[in-house]
Amino acid sequence: MIAVGDRRLSGTLNLADVREAARRRLPRGIFEFIDRGAEDDDALANNREAFRRIRLRPRVLVDVSGRSAATTLFGRPQAMPLAIAPTGAAGLVWFEGELELARAAAAAEVPFTLATRSLASIESVAEAAAGGTLWFQLYVWAECALSYALVERAERAGFHALVVTVDVPVTPNREYNRRNGFSLPFMPSGRALLDMARHPRWLVGTMGRYLATTGMPRYENQPGQRRQRITQGEPAVRSMRSDDLTWDDIRELRRRWPRTLIVKGLLRAEDALRAVECGADAVVVSNHGGRCLDSAVAPIDALPEIADAVGHRAVVLMDGGVRRGGDIVKALALGASAVLAGRPTLYGTAIGGRAGAAHVLDLLRAEMLTVMAQLGCRSIADIGPDLVHPGTAPGRRTMTSAAANPALASA
Ligand SMILES: Cc1cc2nc3c(=O)[nH]c(=O)nc-3n(C[C@H](O)[C@H](O)[C@H](O)COP(=O)(O)O)c2cc1C
Repeated sequence: MIAVGDRRLSGTLNLADVREAARRRLPRGIFEFIDRGAEDDDALANNREAFRRIRLRPRVLVDVSGRSAATTLFGRPQAMPLAIAPTGAAGLVWFEGELELARAAAAAEVPFTLATRSLASIESVAEAAAGGTLWFQLYVWAECALSYALVERAERAGFHALVVTVDVPVTPNREYNRRNGFSLPFMPSGRALLDMARHPRWLVGTMGRYLATTGMPRYENQPGQRRQRITQGEPAVRSMRSDDLTWDDIRELRRRWPRTLIVKGLLRAEDALRAVECGADAVVVSNHGGRCLDSAVAPIDALPEIADAVGHRAVVLMDGGVRRGGDIVKALALGASAVLAGRPTLYGTAIGGRAGAAHVLDLLRAEMLTVMAQLGCRSIADIGPDLVHPGTAPGRRTMTSAAANPALASA
């Protein structure tokens, strides 16, 4: 499997190439499930457009020979200011993809976030990526006690941070899944089965390996009777409480979780401040990769206002649309301490498992170092708002240097 992956990797020079290779390997239903957004894909497209609009002003004649993208987040060193976003989809695109992706993240010295609804258990990821930085993403169930049990499992397994996602109050409208006959849990329609049959490398290499070894994959972190195989009914989805989640739930989770608490899915300064008041150590400025509210503002556009409002009180992270190393530099210049990437490493995992994910992380880091050199930045601390051309900046930032950023200290 890896040999095939390696051959495919060598021809992919950037994220667009990796995405295209993933598109060819995956059944259409699965590719569109990971690649597309919601409704008309407006938020998805705008996440990229918003990055493109930002223009940078290089500093010249700076000795950048010893440049480094290394940083420290929540007191733990990492090789670059990026973390793998929770998606729960890596196990769909590659056999045991979640474990492969977690191993790639640990080797690349960046945090990996395991999603509640993933096909790998909290404990198996902790074992596979021992020594790496692990975050656990939580969707809160209707029966809170079950969610709290999950939080305790993550704590026992040594996860470093809890990421509470707050931007999915209802199931988003994604018509393409219905058109493709694709659903989670899997309830293969005639169209979906034909789609799979047309992609034999995925059918044999991913689904075939599951069926030959562990059987149809399961949502391994669903408690008790909800730990069902991905072909089984709806209860796992229905039991997901999200439309009555409030700030009280964040306070309660703060009380229960002793380590870093991150609230993910905010686009307004007052919500970020509220999260901090409830005890969050960090917020993720995010529109869920454009997968929920299709007219949501791009996170990179919302970032400066939120970073200014939060100031030193908490760490500000962002995600949505990061496809080049230069995008990471833009996010840092506009107030983020690091970015999360969702689809990029899913595309990578889809074409080469661990090696594919590692390849994507290498590409992003190399691109980031190139842009840092072109901008006259030796280190992350040199990346500040002055690099952004004022006419193209999405909002005002008052901080003069990323060195004033709290993420560079522990939280
Ligand atoms: C296939 C897929 C599944 C996702 N599942 C989750 C999830 O279970 N929980 C969550 O908080 N975010 C989820 N997200 C959103 C990501 O965590 C992240 O916010 C988003 O992918 C960032 O945008 P990007 O893909 O452009 O990097 C998912 C994203 C994708 C692409």
